[in-house]
Amino acid sequence: MYYPEELIEEIRSRNDIVDVISAYVKLQKKGSSYFGLCPFHNEKSPSFSVSGQKQMYYCFGCGAGGNVFTFLMEYENYTFVEAVKALAQRAGITLPEAEPSAQEKKEASLRQRLLEINKLAAKYFYYQLTQPQGEQARNYLEGRKLSHETIVKFGLGYSNKFSNDLYQYLKSAGYDDYILKETGLISLDEKRGGHDKFWNRVMFPIMDINNRVIGFGGRVLGDGTPKYLNSPETKLFDKSRNLYGLNLARRSRRPNMIICEGYMDVISMHQAGFDNAVASLGTAFTSPQASLLKRYTDEVLLAYDSDGAGVKAALRAIPMLKEAGLRSRVIHMEPYKDPDEFIKNLGTQAFEDRIAHAQNSFMFEISIMERDYNLNDPEGKTGFFNSVAKKLLEFNQELERKNYIEAVARQYGIAFDDLNRLVNRFGLMSGYGQERPAPAARADGSGSKEKKRQEKEDAVVTAQKLLLTWLCEDTGLFEKIGSWISPEDFTDPLCHEAAVCVFEEYDTKKTVTPARIISLFEDKDEHDAIARAFNTTIRDEDDKAAREKAINETIRRIKTASLEHKSKTARDISVLQEIIRQKKELQKLHISL
Ligand code: UTP
Ligand code: MN
Repeated sequence: MYYPEELIEEIRSRNDIVDVISAYVKLQKKGSSYFGLCPFHNEKSPSFSVSGQKQMYYCFGCGAGGNVFTFLMEYENYTFVEAVKALAQRAGITLPEAEPSAQEKKEASLRQRLLEINKLAAKYFYYQLTQPQGEQARNYLEGRKLSHETIVKFGLGYSNKFSNDLYQYLKSAGYDDYILKETGLISLDEKRGGHDKFWNRVMFPIMDINNRVIGFGGRVLGDGTPKYLNSPETKLFDKSRNLYGLNLARRSRRPNMIICEGYMDVISMHQAGFDNAVASLGTAFTSPQASLLKRYTDEVLLAYDSDGAGVKAALRAIPMLKEAGLRSRVIHMEPYKDPDEFIKNLGTQAFEDRIAHAQNSFMFEISIMERDYNLNDPEGKTGFFNSVAKKLLEFNQELERKNYIEAVARQYGIAFDDLNRLVNRFGLMSGYGQERPAPAARADGSGSKEKKRQEKEDAVVTAQKLLLTWLCEDTGLFEKIGSWISPEDFTDPLCHEAAVCVFEEYDTKKTVTPARIISLFEDKDEHDAIARAFNTTIRDEDDKAAREKAINETIRRIKTASLEHKSKTARDISVLQEIIRQKKELQKLHISL
């Protein structure tokens, strides 16, 4: 569905960005902007700014930025069209609801069609499960003690024994080979034609946080290898940025989230009432997944398998969770292998108890470290405490560090003062709490030359961004700089694109709407970069003379760089002469405000 630009602009202007973002982030007014804790990265003091005047947001910490559409795209994982729809609804604007024509259908984004196909496939698998051919799969799930309600809730299904029936079905629904290949559900082979990736498996649809099917996991019925087969990564399915079960867990009222290893663990836990369980997608836990969780909770419980692989997975995940600003604890499953088996054998209450006694993740890490030392041997003991002391330096808040020193001292029978002294000694040795000296310049000077060139380039780009900001804030400047600067003078590609839009809008309408310009850039990374361009802050130049000087310097810098850039590519003598003339002219530059 394509909406006219005016409609997009109408929707944008009727959704005040401060109102919209306030529903997600607690904002406080500071000067002309609002500030809050950035929802896109972890932070303790607010660097996420929202400007009502520019109708844009920007995070000085992580660089996320954009307009009201981008915000929803980032936060809710929406596509541009979905963000438009949500905001239209919010503003009470009815969107044209045309019956999709064959043409429009073709134009609908690839992503949208992939979602459609996945949904259709999930329904197909579910239908197969309910049919006579699904009996073995039904028995399998029953054997694993899943209720009918649970099966429906997770949309479980069955890919039957024919190796190309899904392919035939999707073809008959009107999808061609090209798009079917993109789903990862079908592979195409010149000799055999299209065939299904999954057959004779129990199917687990994998959903994003908005309940849309983005991929599948399939389990063999009983023993066989591979035990689980997963959809490959596709345009929709990014395994490092989604979590199985999060679509349900995000609505849980429990105070934390539980991460486990398997799909079946998630399902068993939800069935037992632990509706805050999620799992990664057949791959190791990642940092983006930690950030995703941080949107919904401050504490994560790790319910990994009790075997060596599970311990290793937990040790990998803990620092990532910490990095994302999450507290974490470890649930012990012994003597069982995983949450699924634990709950089946000991039931809900016992698992609730294990949650209550989940181990602090630092203490868990230490307990694993302990395995490498023989504490009955004086040398082993010394080695162990040295390692612990070094590790305690991870806590850079003094009170927190003291609390942990105390906890370790109590548990491992060492005097608080002794351990504390050890920690401080390592702290001093590693220059803890001191500024690191800047790396020495290379003796041959080549390093510093490169550095200088880079600095000069950065200064020019900064100048271009500054000028863009000033133009948006004070359109009176256009007339004043008009004879000196045009969009061609913006040598940085992104600034150039933004400048073209800004100048064009000013020429036709005599105003500039930064947020509207942002809408022209659909790709999210570009949004960030452009928002940054518009938010490049300047010292408050109250003083008119100082401001005037800043503007003149900025323009001179931009123009000089632009002329230098042109002279590098000039082949024609008359062009070079013109550049020389303009350079001379530039000496006369004086813009007064
Ligand atoms: P497990 O082997 O621990 O699975 O793998 P499980 O959940 O206990 O399986 P059940 O209970 O026997 O059914 C944990 C996760 O690792 C991925 C899957 O995502 C699985 O849920 N995995 C495992 C694969 O992707 N492929 C495999 O062959 C095995
Ligand atoms: Mn299991």
